[in-house]
Amino acid sequence: MRILITGGKGMLARTLVTELGKNPDYIISAPGHAELDITDPMSVTRVFGSFEPEVVLHCAAYTKVDQCESNPSLAQEVNVQGSANIAMACKQSNVRLIAFSTDYVFDGESGPYTEFSRPTGGINVYGQSKWAAERTIRLDCPNHVIARVSWLYGPGGPSFVHTMLRLAKEGRPCIRVVNDQTGCPTSTLAVAGAIAEILRNPHLMGTFHLSCQGETTWYGLAREIFSLAGIEQNVEPCTSAEYVTPAKRPANSCLVSVRMKDCGLSPMPHWQESLQSFLARELPTLGF
Ligand SMILES: NC(=O)c1ccc[n+]([C@@H]2O[C@H](COP(=O)([O-])OP(=O)(O)OC[C@H]3O[C@@H](n4cnc5c(N)ncnc54)[C@H](OP(=O)(O)O)[C@@H]3O)[C@@H](O)[C@H]2O)c1
Repeated sequence: MRILITGGKGMLARTLVTELGKNPDYIISAPGHAELDITDPMSVTRVFGSFEPEVVLHCAAYTKVDQCESNPSLAQEVNVQGSANIAMACKQSNVRLIAFSTDYVFDGESGPYTEFSRPTGGINVYGQSKWAAERTIRLDCPNHVIARVSWLYGPGGPSFVHTMLRLAKEGRPCIRVVNDQTGCPTSTLAVAGAIAEILRNPHLMGTFHLSCQGETTWYGLAREIFSLAGIEQNVEPCTSAEYVTPAKRPANSCLVSVRMKDCGLSPMPHWQESLQSFLARELPTLGF
């Protein structure tokens, strides 16, 4: 199977390349932004023409949530128009599209959310652009999977996990972390496992929530990171009102999956179990 991964140098894409690359039946191409600019239809046509993918894993996105607030036109261009270019190219070439989306398409007022919950479209520019991307993909490319993920961390980062470990290494006497946003921290390795199963089931279509099970706050996640890593670090809870960021974040954007079970897919691991195995392999690379 010939698999094209967009945004090939990004965190999730790098894990997909490594993990799916273990399957000898897969031929993977993962061009970075410079080789495939999804906002440029000519670039998309060129890459589709030369590689001739059978499946596209669409990871490319403008993911800097706070920067999206001051640059909404770039969020629109990359996340919406770029996704439309990929969706139309997939439809034209009869290619299966697996596109990644986010828990931030929900407003966080009534989480947790299943695949059957109707997003209100997000409370920040990033979430709104990803919701618009989802709608364009559904319209432009019927043979699609929209895989919503959340609070990602993965080998090499950057991620919240990497930031916490760096701050500890710098010797911060105390780290203040928000305790009024709840979500599902998710390892890119766990996502790669679920994507491998979805690839083995070409009939699967529609929206899937691929977040790790269980839930916590950013504060709870920080505490767990230090506890599992055996690092003595003072962490203090604070509120979103005390830690102001340009983009508002949803209060409870937990994703649960009912479709994975309905479709006979393996359940996602619990977030604590995933974090533990991730830290076991990542800590030495970070000098711990
Ligand atoms: N990280 C999370 O916590 C999280 C949570 C929920 C959902 N997601 C979704 O998961 C997917 C992967 O996220 P990630 O964390 O791996 O993001 P990432 O590390 O920021 O990777 C995104 C990649 O897209 C590239 N890109 C940006 N504009 C592009 C363009 N016009 N054409 C081609 N490539 C472009 C970026 O390259 P440059 O940096 O060189 O521009 C970057 O390498 C995204 O769809 C994201 O929305 C992520």
